[in-house]
Amino acid sequence: TSKMPVVQELMRQGLTHLPDRFKRAVQPSSPPLTGTLAESDHVPFINVSKLRVGSEPMDRVQELAKLVHSVKEWGVFLVTEHGIPSHVLDGVKNTVKGFFGLSFEEKKGSVGSYANVDNMGYGRSFVKSENQPLDWVDRLAMQVSPKGSDQGLNVWPQRPANFRQEVEKYAEEARKVLDELLQALAEALLLERDAFYKYFDPAESEVKVRINFYPRCPRPDLALGLAPHSDASVLTFIMQFESGGGLQVYKNNKWVTVPWPKETLLVNIGDLLEIMSGGKLQSTWHRAATQSHAERYSLVLFYNPPSSVDIEPAWREDEDEDKRVYKKVNVGEYVKNFYKIAPTPGKDALEFAK
Ligand code: SIN
Ligand code: FE2
Repeated sequence: TSKMPVVQELMRQGLTHLPDRFKRAVQPSSPPLTGTLAESDHVPFINVSKLRVGSEPMDRVQELAKLVHSVKEWGVFLVTEHGIPSHVLDGVKNTVKGFFGLSFEEKKGSVGSYANVDNMGYGRSFVKSENQPLDWVDRLAMQVSPKGSDQGLNVWPQRPANFRQEVEKYAEEARKVLDELLQALAEALLLERDAFYKYFDPAESEVKVRINFYPRCPRPDLALGLAPHSDASVLTFIMQFESGGGLQVYKNNKWVTVPWPKETLLVNIGDLLEIMSGGKLQSTWHRAATQSHAERYSLVLFYNPPSSVDIEPAWREDEDEDKRVYKKVNVGEYVKNFYKIAPTPGKDALEFAK
């Protein structure tokens, strides 16, 4: 696998067929087929400004109800009026495109580590075994926070020159939105408003950013951008650079492509939030499709408490003892185990917290 070039290079070399290593035993296009959505059946839009304490009370109640509905039905929701300035969104998109626009040698030279170390740096998506079908994606992953804790891995690109600054600016804005959503989610579930947020810390919370670049794919029916998985995170916040889609969620036994308008950002529930919520929320099973007509970028931000923190499920008084499946778990240990059983940890990883 180390000899297999990154996908962007394969395509640049003029590839017209899909190499066997990317073909899946269960083809993306075979049943359960990707479903089509009825007009009425769309991923809810959550207006973040209406969730804020102090906003119009009737609006707020309605928005909180919509939030619960969307996380239970879909496991994802799209946010509008998030307050992240357009120039911050544009800044990060441009610098990311600048990086992927460099030649392969320049990209390799720009990041200190071209490797599959701890799933960080520039290169292929996580590869665990030789038999594993490969994902049709190149990724660039960095730790934003806490600062200076990326185990000496030098994974921030040096070029474009403003890369780190733009990503950090975006991450700071994204955190404000996620902090608001964490509190709203707890409130909407009739828990203490800080039931989830209390584990977070301005300096020590863990913020990782992974950029996915999906080049055009010769056979979207045979390959996947990312294999089905859930995220280990509490919340995952995703920006895609163009409208259209690639992200699919598993809903009613079908893979459904999320219709994703421009300027909206997507929030996804991770395993750690399933645990923190005592199973009242479930982490989202999702995957990324590829497309033949256009390349696609997504910028994914994983938000977690400090890795030293122990999280405990938040139970309501009225919940049955025998439904209390999750126990206290250490964040760092959970994440470590999650990646140990990757590439498709899925719901198996949650056994660790039972
Ligand atoms: C993912 O990170 O799981 C997929 C994100 C995306 O490309 O939409
Ligand atoms: Fe994911």
